[in-house]
Amino acid sequence: MKGPQKPFYKKSMKERHSTLQISASLSDEEIERYKKFGSLGEELSDYFIENSIGVMEVPLGIALNFIVNSREVIVPMAVEESSVVAAASYAAKLARPSGGFFATTSGSIMIAQIQLLNCDDTHGARLKIMEQKDEILTLARNQDPTLESLGGGPCDLQVRILENSDDPMIIVHLLVDTKDAMGANTVNTMAESIAPLLEKITNGQVCLRIISNLADQRLARSRCIIKKQDIGEDTVDGVVRAYQFAKMDPYRAATHNKGIMNGISAVVLATGNDTRAVEAGAHAFAAKSGQYSPLTTWEKNRDGDLIGTIELPLAVGTVGGTVSLHPKAKTNLKILGAETSENLAEIMASVGLAQNFAALRALATEGIQAGHMKLHAKNIAIMAGASSGNLEQIVSRMIAEGNIRLDRAKEIIKELRTF
Ligand code: MEV
Repeated sequence: MKGPQKPFYKKSMKERHSTLQISASLSDEEIERYKKFGSLGEELSDYFIENSIGVMEVPLGIALNFIVNSREVIVPMAVEESSVVAAASYAAKLARPSGGFFATTSGSIMIAQIQLLNCDDTHGARLKIMEQKDEILTLARNQDPTLESLGGGPCDLQVRILENSDDPMIIVHLLVDTKDAMGANTVNTMAESIAPLLEKITNGQVCLRIISNLADQRLARSRCIIKKQDIGEDTVDGVVRAYQFAKMDPYRAATHNKGIMNGISAVVLATGNDTRAVEAGAHAFAAKSGQYSPLTTWEKNRDGDLIGTIELPLAVGTVGGTVSLHPKAKTNLKILGAETSENLAEIMASVGLAQNFAALRALATEGIQAGHMKLHAKNIAIMAGASSGNLEQIVSRMIAEGNIRLDRAKEIIKELRTF
């Protein structure tokens, strides 16, 4: 007699594949695709997430020409969008004559939030928490002696009151220097550990205890100079005007920042860091003034050269979690040569700035479609069945004809075969 079905998560990988093949009516060829786990391997893929069935590949490229704080840096980027790696490399080349990128960080401090409700006297409770700051920080500190031994750990407590509700709430910010780790697990554990003490001090009730992704105590900054003689005066003016457009208009600022994150997220993904955390932090920071704004600035100096700057939160690590377990992420970090999380954030900010320059330059001059059309034509030709032998010819013909369509690509392939 058949027993009850094993839940999906308890099945072996082989069993999951056969269940999936039946329920989604997949062919043998289709299910085979899930059986290649790359450098991550089946075991780690299964360990990282629940109900794992495989890995999802994205291309990994290398951006060249970067100098960050006087050091040559090779930048691995994991991204599916064509032009991103080439654009970053191109912009980094233009920054080289002026020394590349000059980057700093504000440190590696993360914030955990604890929400306290139903305190009898909110303002009094706030001060009571501050009176017992040392005791609270010591309790949090005891959760991670290793971090403490590395010179990190809880370093401050801030207490805010959110008044604009019938039921005012106290929000405690626990500030923790997480050093080279991104630190989400550490700060969440610490936040949970101090919750009972906060309840005792305030006679209130703790609700949420969680990291804030608006990591504004962990900012990365970078600046570069692009010489007027290398891009021309019109381009300098065009980039400055493009920036001013983004500064005044959130519709444009969203796309401007998307271009920046094309570069940053690609490095975040390549190093096994949390792309969602970084994206959330960047966009929240961009809206901090009340108006969603660009994360970069572009202006002209006295010599007419273009000066770019970027500033954004970058909560990334070089140790811990996926970063230390994912074999390729570890090697990508080695390629980058980033020894600390601050080094890594400095490189990422520089890549974001380079990416933004490349996009604005293209937009302010020939437009981005010229470059994109070639890549689009290439994709269409490959979809139509082009081989490495006839790809270039098919692409050139479609571009020359101004007709980049799958049916046309198929026709050209047929024509080439008959000759
Ligand atoms: C496309 O992925 C990114 C751009 O739209 C960025 C921008 O408009 O600044 C080109």
